[in-house]
Amino acid sequence: MHALSSLFVLGSCAVQAALCHPGAARDKRDTAICKRSVDSFIEKETPIAWARLLCNIGPNGCAASGAASGVVVASPSKANPDYWYTWTRDASLVLTGIADAFAHNYSSSLQGTIHNFVASQAKLQGVSNPSGSFSNGAGLGEPKFMVDLTQFTGEWGRPQRDGPPLRAIALIQYAKWLVNNGYKATAKDIVWPVIKNDLAYTAQYWNETGFDLWEEVPGSSFFTIASSHRALVEGADLAAQLGTECRACITVAPHVLCFQQSFWKASGGYVVSNINGGEYRSGKDANSLLASIHTFDPAVGCDAITFQPCSDRALSNHKAYVDSFRSVYAINSGIPQGKAVAVGRYSEDVYYNGNPWYLANFAAAEQLYDAIYVWKKQGSVTITQLSLPFFKDLLPSITPGTYSSSSPSSPTFQTILDAVLAYADGFIDIAAKYTPQDGYLAEQYDRSTGAPLSAAHLTWSYSAFLTAAERRAGIVPSGWSATNGRTLPSTCSRVQVAGTYALATATTSFPANLTPNPGAGGAPAPFPTGCIDAGEVYVTFNARVATQWGQTVKVVGSSAEVGGWNVGKAVSLSASGYTAGNPLWSITVPMRAGAAVQYKYVKVNSDGSVQWESDPNRSLTVAAAATGGACAAQTVNDTWR
Ligand SMILES: *[C@@H]1O[C@H](CO)[C@@H](O)[C@H](O)[C@H]1NC(C)=O
Ligand SMILES: *[C@@H]1O[C@H](CO)[C@@H](O)[C@H](O)[C@H]1NC(C)=O
Ligand SMILES: *[C@@H]1O[C@H](CO)[C@@H](O)[C@H](O)[C@H]1NC(C)=O
Ligand SMILES: *[C@@H]1O[C@H](CO)[C@@H](O)[C@H](O)[C@H]1NC(C)=O
Repeated sequence: MHALSSLFVLGSCAVQAALCHPGAARDKRDTAICKRSVDSFIEKETPIAWARLLCNIGPNGCAASGAASGVVVASPSKANPDYWYTWTRDASLVLTGIADAFAHNYSSSLQGTIHNFVASQAKLQGVSNPSGSFSNGAGLGEPKFMVDLTQFTGEWGRPQRDGPPLRAIALIQYAKWLVNNGYKATAKDIVWPVIKNDLAYTAQYWNETGFDLWEEVPGSSFFTIASSHRALVEGADLAAQLGTECRACITVAPHVLCFQQSFWKASGGYVVSNINGGEYRSGKDANSLLASIHTFDPAVGCDAITFQPCSDRALSNHKAYVDSFRSVYAINSGIPQGKAVAVGRYSEDVYYNGNPWYLANFAAAEQLYDAIYVWKKQGSVTITQLSLPFFKDLLPSITPGTYSSSSPSSPTFQTILDAVLAYADGFIDIAAKYTPQDGYLAEQYDRSTGAPLSAAHLTWSYSAFLTAAERRAGIVPSGWSATNGRTLPSTCSRVQVAGTYALATATTSFPANLTPNPGAGGAPAPFPTGCIDAGEVYVTFNARVATQWGQTVKVVGSSAEVGGWNVGKAVSLSASGYTAGNPLWSITVPMRAGAAVQYKYVKVNSDGSVQWESDPNRSLTVAAAATGGACAAQTVNDTWR
């Protein structure tokens, strides 16, 4: 056994994995063997994963020749499947991992990679594409581009609304590092203008349907909504650090979180990952685990509202998700309940015949490592009726309650942590078992043979491995101000704020020598509660307009915010609240306090032709400026005439 675990052959994990799954009769020694095999896999895989991840980033990555500077290629595979593109989602998740690692361990070369990424994304924001143009933000929802930063014009599942919030999150991580190290002006002048566009998009379009992260289901996706919420909360916080504001973020975020609650299926104890169109599947989907780990904030403990990894909801969901794969993959047969298995995107998957994905196994482990980190930090584990089945799989006689590390009479706290760690390690061990000896990670591995499948060197697979390994080592991201972003409004509203979009132009001029200077940023500014610009009033236009399929409704009028009577600059209303009985179109527009504005609604047909409302012009006096930092708002209710 000792000889086996010291053998530096990745395949040896297969043998050890068998030893670490002896059914119910696990003892301390078996756990130790399993842990050691995971230790050695991680030790060997880490440098490989870093190297291969960086290989996929242009312009100089070893597998990214031809990709523009800063472009994260999804995979070097150019055929069967062709992943020689850059997806905003994948790239942003990878960059968030890089920025978090960079914040823990300064590296000038990683900093160069981050700078190149910032510049590439500023450029990409302005590239018109089949999802739309930049002027009203719609083009930011385009999921993928060519690696030379030109548009991809083929048919695709578009738009995908997770790209902008995930990119904002990635860039915010670096902006926060700049602020903390005394480079606030650089963060504000160079990085913030890119982030601002993505936040504006998120605040404007979060309540519209789009395709999910697997690009298959049109509707509302839990992962997209959770990512949107984080981006808005963290964006509001960053704005305060920079001495500016994102009022749209503060206004919209609670309603995104409110909507996020509706994905929870209380009767089943899991998240239904796709709603508003995706209900034809069970909903048990890696979507929800990825949402949990990518919105992890150690400061908010085991909060269920924000679906923290150690919350009872997220643990119950983990079990439902994992169990959904136990009987569908042949390679899982014979592995008993309570032991880790190979997991994939969702059990109904048919892509490449439906297989386990490396990144799904890493996510299943990462969620539990996150949980262990928080339990250790808070010195207790609470087991509720909801999370009980998850824990009973690991410790059959466990009962609900709070188990504290400081109760010397009861070793249960440590027993629970050991059991969860062994279970988490099991998910890594399975991935290790099906990782070839060279340590290269494809997208999937075969459901029957375990052989690597689909795209080779998937950048996201490497990133998912690295973040899981970091969390296991107790290295966690700094959090996103979730404590300030977990208040639910009394009713969920559809509020969507019309954004203004401006190309970021300074991103190629990062100053030299942005070296670590910890503490130079001074004390952080408090999370914003009021308005800096109290002269800005949020005017919500509610218009009842019966429309035909393909028609949209816009508001146009005398002030610049509603296009200055130029229909080309009119503001689109959202139909997310439209029903046959109540044909409601609405949008919230930031306007100057006290302004006298004339306006009309127009219907725009799919061919671009415009139908105006009849005379006279409507008029509106925008409310007076608020005082004392309060934020003013007003609503107008109109019916088409
Ligand atoms: C920090 O980064 C350097 C490379 O820049 C690497 O050699 C070192 O192992 C890293 N340290 C940690 C603790 O990750
Ligand atoms: C928009 O938000 C409302 C209120 O939370 C919700 O009922 C509706 O399903 C959402 N629709 C979309 C497409 O996000
Ligand atoms: C509405 O406003 C426009 C732009 O100022 C003006 O040209 C038009 O005459 C107005 N219509 C009426 C009926 O007053
Ligand atoms: C607009 O209608 C909503 C209900 O749909 C109502 O609560 C609100 O008071 C109305 N506002 C005005 C200014 O009429």
